[in-house]
Amino acid sequence: MNPGPAAAHFLPSEAYACAATARRERERYAPRFWHAVAPLAALPEGHSLALELLELPLLLTHAPGEGVRAFLNRCPHRGVALQEPGGAAQPTRRLVCPYHGWTYGLDGELRAAAREGEFLEPFCRADWPLQPLACRMSGPLIWVAIGADPLPLEQQLDLVLEEAGEAWARPLQLLGQSSRELACNWKIAHDNTLDDYHVAIAHPRTLHREQGPVRHYRHGLSRHGSLLATPMEGGEFLTFGLAPWTHLLVWPDGRLAVISFPPLTLERCAMQLWLLGTAEHGPLAADWLASLLLFLEEDRRLVESAQRGYRSGLAPGPPHRLEQRLLQHQRLYAAVMGLQVMGLTPEP
Ligand code: FES
Ligand SMILES: [Fe+2]
Repeated sequence: MNPGPAAAHFLPSEAYACAATARRERERYAPRFWHAVAPLAALPEGHSLALELLELPLLLTHAPGEGVRAFLNRCPHRGVALQEPGGAAQPTRRLVCPYHGWTYGLDGELRAAAREGEFLEPFCRADWPLQPLACRMSGPLIWVAIGADPLPLEQQLDLVLEEAGEAWARPLQLLGQSSRELACNWKIAHDNTLDDYHVAIAHPRTLHREQGPVRHYRHGLSRHGSLLATPMEGGEFLTFGLAPWTHLLVWPDGRLAVISFPPLTLERCAMQLWLLGTAEHGPLAADWLASLLLFLEEDRRLVESAQRGYRSGLAPGPPHRLEQRLLQHQRLYAAVMGLQVMGLTPEP
C-alpha cells in the first residue's frame, strides 16, 4: 500500500551511502551546530589537548584564570601540529612547534620564532597567531563551532536546559570513557540511539531494564532536540537526543553519560562515551561503564547490519510512533541540508 503524500518517511538510503551527501554534511550540517569536543574535567588549567573533529586538527588550551580556548592545531608557518592528537591533556606553558620552533602562548599569540631577524620580508609576530575557533562552556562540556554562523548554543541545548538544568550546571568529574569505531554511517548510529521502538526488543536485559516499560515513556520534542523520560527510583531517567550527533543520558542521582557519533568516513563513525559524576559516584564507575558498553555492543551489531541493508538499496519501511524522535532529527537534518523528502518538509 502506498502512503499518502502527507505520510512521514524515513530518509532514503542514499543519505547513508553517498559520498556527495557526506561532503554536503561537512559543508552545511556540521558547521550549523556546536560540537561537544571534550569534558571540561579532561582539560585542567595549565594544560592543552589535541583532538580531531571531521579531519580538522583542533587544539584546546586552558590558561590559568583565563578559561578554555580552541584553535586549529596547525602552525601558521608550514602547517605542522603543535601537539599530537589522540592522547590526554598535556601540562603546557608554551606551545612549541616541533618543525621550526615557533612558540605560542596558550592564548594563541606567537611569542617567538627561531632566527627571527632573518626572514626574507619584515617579520611581525602579531601577524601570526594560531587560528581561533568559537569555543563555549555549557554544562560539564567544552563546545566548539567550526562554522561562522552556528545556531545559538542555548537553542541547541534548549530541552537539556529546561529539563535537566540542575544536573547540567553541577561541576562533574570524568569517571570513565571509551572510544571505538563503528562500521556505519554516523546517521545509522544516531538514528538508533534516538529509536525508542527497539529498546524492549534489542536490549531486554540491559537498557530496557533502566528505561522500564514502554507504557511509561514520556517524550519531549523541541526544534533541535528530543527527550525520552522514564520513571526511575529517585526521579526520572532522561535520554536526550541532540544535534549534530550527540546523546545525553541523565540519571536521577545526577550522573551524566555523553555518547557521540562523529563521522570518520562515509561508512564509519566514532562512538565516544564520557561518564561524568561527582566523587561519590566514583566507586560505581567501573560497573557503570561496563553496563553501558554492554548495550552499546548490542547496538554495534545492529547498526553495522543496518548499514549493509541501507547500502544494498533499502527503501525503508513505515515509521512507528516510538520512532518519532528519530523522525524529528531526520526532519531537522533535511531542513539544514536543504533536502526535499516527502513528509520530511524543511522547517521554515
Ligand atoms: S611549521 Fe611550525 S615553525 Fe614551521
Ligand atoms: Fe539500542
